[in-house]
Amino acid sequence: MKISQSTPMKILGIESSFDDTAISVVEAQRGKYTVLSAVFASQILMHKKTGGVVPEVAAREHAVTIMPTAEAALEQAGVWKGRTKKSARADFRARMHRNVVIPDIDLIAATAGPGLLTSLLVGAETGRTLSYAWEIPFIATNHIAGHVASAWLMNQPMPYPILALVVSGGHTELLLMNKKGHLRCLGATRDDAAGEAFDKTAKLLGLPYPGGPALSKLGANGNPRAVPFPRPMLNSPDFDFSFAGLKTSVLYHLKELQKLPQQDVAASIERAIVDVLVAKTARAAAKHKVKTVTLVGGVAANRTLRSMLAEAIQNQGRQFITPSLEFCTDNASMIAVAGYQAWQAGKVTRPNTLKVDPNWEIGR
Ligand code: KG4
Ligand code: ZN
Repeated sequence: MKISQSTPMKILGIESSFDDTAISVVEAQRGKYTVLSAVFASQILMHKKTGGVVPEVAAREHAVTIMPTAEAALEQAGVWKGRTKKSARADFRARMHRNVVIPDIDLIAATAGPGLLTSLLVGAETGRTLSYAWEIPFIATNHIAGHVASAWLMNQPMPYPILALVVSGGHTELLLMNKKGHLRCLGATRDDAAGEAFDKTAKLLGLPYPGGPALSKLGANGNPRAVPFPRPMLNSPDFDFSFAGLKTSVLYHLKELQKLPQQDVAASIERAIVDVLVAKTARAAAKHKVKTVTLVGGVAANRTLRSMLAEAIQNQGRQFITPSLEFCTDNASMIAVAGYQAWQAGKVTRPNTLKVDPNWEIGR
């Protein structure tokens, strides 16, 4: 059932695909989005001990924190125990109670892939169970579609076609979106993702997990031209990326690099990654004559990338949108928006058809 855009809808977003449990309540009306609450249970201290995410540990932590996080998000949004409704499943419930008190929520969206299987299961199963118990429609949402949707949280005009550069710990993709909302993948990384390139090179330099922000901070006042790191596939005619060579280069030259000022090494690594991302995105934007370019995903929090891509795209006369930092890294508000957009397009996930897919690809 398609609901008119002018009817306000409140969406519960659930995100547990990786290392943070995140739950948000977002209100959508006339194409504008208001985040009513966004609660996180961070696992960062736990994963710092192991220098990375151990899937089983992450999933167990999600299982412990997910319901308290959901309750806090619903409370903070002022929608917990929001309304009383008559159960449609009278046959089952009539004997106990016909009226159920449920949160004032119209839709539940949970990430069902891509991500770590057991972590995804916790969030998706929670979403499906709450959907069943509260008799509220449910949408299994793609995590990458969530990152793409995060740009709408800025509530700015975004004329189509839109080119989204999705850069996260697991993904580097250029996605083209037409006015019907269909996504087409123009190119992707052939090996490491941009976030992985940051994280792995940062680890080689002895920086703490997560490496991306740490490397960026270290390089903030460094000379980005100090070390001429490789910029793989910079001039290839396609829109694919490759970052594994950069990690190999850092590893190969580690001894010499350790003798240089570390802030220069960090700045040079950052600039090698950013140069490739900016050049390929600008070229794809021109080729496909897009009106808007968005920069989304965890690596979109990188200040050098934000400013250099903004400049390149605005110089082409196109609209450039990147979410505020809190919506770049994994969050549940973006899942709520993606779920709402899917709902608007007529999609719904029946509780018995939910499929969690760690390798769920979109646009291919
Ligand atoms: O989207 P995200 O939060 O999680 C995934 O879906 O992967 O992205 C996390 C990635 C990590 O690799 C992290 O190091 C990177 O984003 N990241 C950054 C910055 N902030 C987060 N990379 C470079 N500079 C940053 N400021
Ligand atoms: Zn992500």
